[in-house]
Amino acid sequence: MKLRRWKYTDVAALAAFEKEQEFPDSWNYNMLAESFLNDGFYGVLAEEKGELIGMAAVMFGPDGADLVNILVKKDRRRRGVGDALMRAVLEECGRRELKKLFLEVRESNAPAVALYEKYGFTRVGERKKYYADGENAAVMCREGKNP
Ligand SMILES: CC(C)(COP(=O)(O)OP(=O)(O)OC[C@H]1O[C@@H](n2cnc3c(N)ncnc32)[C@H](O)[C@@H]1OP(=O)(O)O)[C@@H](O)C(=O)NCCC(=O)NCCS
Repeated sequence: MKLRRWKYTDVAALAAFEKEQEFPDSWNYNMLAESFLNDGFYGVLAEEKGELIGMAAVMFGPDGADLVNILVKKDRRRRGVGDALMRAVLEECGRRELKKLFLEVRESNAPAVALYEKYGFTRVGERKKYYADGENAAVMCREGKNP
């Protein structure tokens, strides 16, 4: 597995990948393309033999950062790709000397919550009806030293 930063020329492939995974909160082409307009944007993707198998993204801002996207190909889950993407994200946080990384996650999304807890995120709040279908989001935060 190889990890590398997103390039603008990856946008079409990333959008097609998101669509294929049938994840309810996936990003579309425009959202992916617009992310490149933000200076604080960092996207990392995982490839195996040239095939896209996972992606993650962080929006760095003046007051902290948000993990805005992490998604692994359906038939490649539970094989360490999420771990590898999360480590890449935390290494980037370390390079930027970031101390607090936030995220929102569906309260029902047990695999994602387990992944975040494994990397030291704790629940710090809730956003009511955050998702289009009315589900609440748990707000989680990871503080302190990055790898
Ligand atoms: C969440 C997601 C990214 C995890 O990716 P993955 O490649 O399967 O994760 P890994 O195999 O690297 O597992 C890393 C850790 O995540 C947790 N985890 C992943 N899948 C899990 C599952 N089905 N049940 C419980 N824990 C799980 C475990 O803590 C695991 O560590 P362990 O192997 O030491 O137990 C993947 O399930 C996914 O793409 N889900 C759909 C998109 C999504 O929900 N994104 C989050 C939006 S907020």
